[in-house]
Amino acid sequence: MKLKFDYNNMMADAVGKEGFSEADFAGDAAAIEAAFSDVMEKRGKGWQEWCDLPYRDDASLNDIEQLGGQLKENAGSLVVFGIGGSALGPLCVAYALTHLHHNELDRGARKAPKLYVEDNVDPERMRALLDVIELKDAYFNVVTKSGETSETLSQFLILYDLLKKKLGKAEAKKRIIVTTTVGKGTLYNIAKAEGFKTYGVGPGVGGRFSVLSPVGLVTFAALGIDIRAMLSGAKSMAEACANGDVKKNPALLTGFLQYKAMGKGKNISVMMPYADGLKFMADFYCQLWGESLGKAKNKRGESVYVGQTPVKALGVTDQHSQVQLYTEGPFDKVVTFLAVEAFRDTVVITDDSEVDACDFLKGRTMNELIDAERRATEYALKKAGRLNFTVTLPAVTAETVGELLMYFMYETAFAGALLGIDTFDQPGVEEGKKATFAMLGRAGYEEKMREIERSPKLAKYLI
Ligand code: PA5
Repeated sequence: MKLKFDYNNMMADAVGKEGFSEADFAGDAAAIEAAFSDVMEKRGKGWQEWCDLPYRDDASLNDIEQLGGQLKENAGSLVVFGIGGSALGPLCVAYALTHLHHNELDRGARKAPKLYVEDNVDPERMRALLDVIELKDAYFNVVTKSGETSETLSQFLILYDLLKKKLGKAEAKKRIIVTTTVGKGTLYNIAKAEGFKTYGVGPGVGGRFSVLSPVGLVTFAALGIDIRAMLSGAKSMAEACANGDVKKNPALLTGFLQYKAMGKGKNISVMMPYADGLKFMADFYCQLWGESLGKAKNKRGESVYVGQTPVKALGVTDQHSQVQLYTEGPFDKVVTFLAVEAFRDTVVITDDSEVDACDFLKGRTMNELIDAERRATEYALKKAGRLNFTVTLPAVTAETVGELLMYFMYETAFAGALLGIDTFDQPGVEEGKKATFAMLGRAGYEEKMREIERSPKLAKYLI
């Protein structure tokens, strides 16, 4: 394991009465043990099939790499259509491991297609996409675990129709790749009938836990990202997370500390990377943490209304917008910092200026500056008695990104097990999906529409 974890600022020794002590670990030893066993026993089973994703067989990886290689060579643009877990995994990894202005580089420097991850159905966004891509060399990866999601299906329908009109049916079929649950769902049935290249998500891999399946891997391979290194990183984190000693298992450790923090009213979890490349890791985390842990009932069916509201922030940018609140506002947050030891570039702050007041900056690097600012923010939070911990990546590479993703997934699983909830369902999301089907008149949702019509109308409170 290459990632490092510093949880000093979660402890009373550093932050005073808000923090935890060895007595907390000792007092909850049985609960920690039970949560650990629960997650370990279910690895690779039921909705924990994601635990096995790092161990994908060679033939399947070869197939993904082969298609990825073709796209890397031939595609001018690669468009991912998907939403939620079907979009955020591809987005956060691609952003971490490609040039920060990837799409603006010329083809020679980019060495891969432009990437567009389209996770909304705003009509202006669809029009804007069509304004910037060239259909003649564009490929579309349509990703939906259920194969039923209205947003993704509508994006697919629009593009397939356009492709057929512009390029003819035979060519259009070659431009669509589908990643979905094999054997089930509307998109799978269409893909089978049309003969699209199709990848499987795995029946027990939920959307937000699917980044290391073809949901992410196809896109990563097309961008030239080393997917084997990423899976190898994920594997080493999975091994670290199989350690029953809470002090040696990073995901169990921070999952437990977050659980204890929730018990003390810390209802907000801030994810704050200090690296632009990791910016969308905060979005990935927010979905994973929010959708997995925000539950009304525990597994015994009792009302619990648990979860932490995840908030994304970016260091240093949000030091100048949110950190005032984190330092002096309510004692209701835990901040997770993501730090990077070695950036891929070093930029020296010019040192031949005659402005003496800037002496403290002259000749320093931006690398030193961002690092000092992160440490300064950690210090400010600690001084104010605010809970925070830091996950450090030695560098942002395919391997460390694989570790980080696996860590997030195990941390969520352990926290969910400690809370006693079903980490892997999302009844709140499903309710919205069904209501959308009903409102658009989908067959089979008539009763849902009647239910919607029966709910109180709030016309009197309009202005
Ligand atoms: O994590 C989840 O299960 C959800 O956020 C889904 O990813 C999201 O709703 C999209 O679903 P699907 O991949 O079935 O289109």
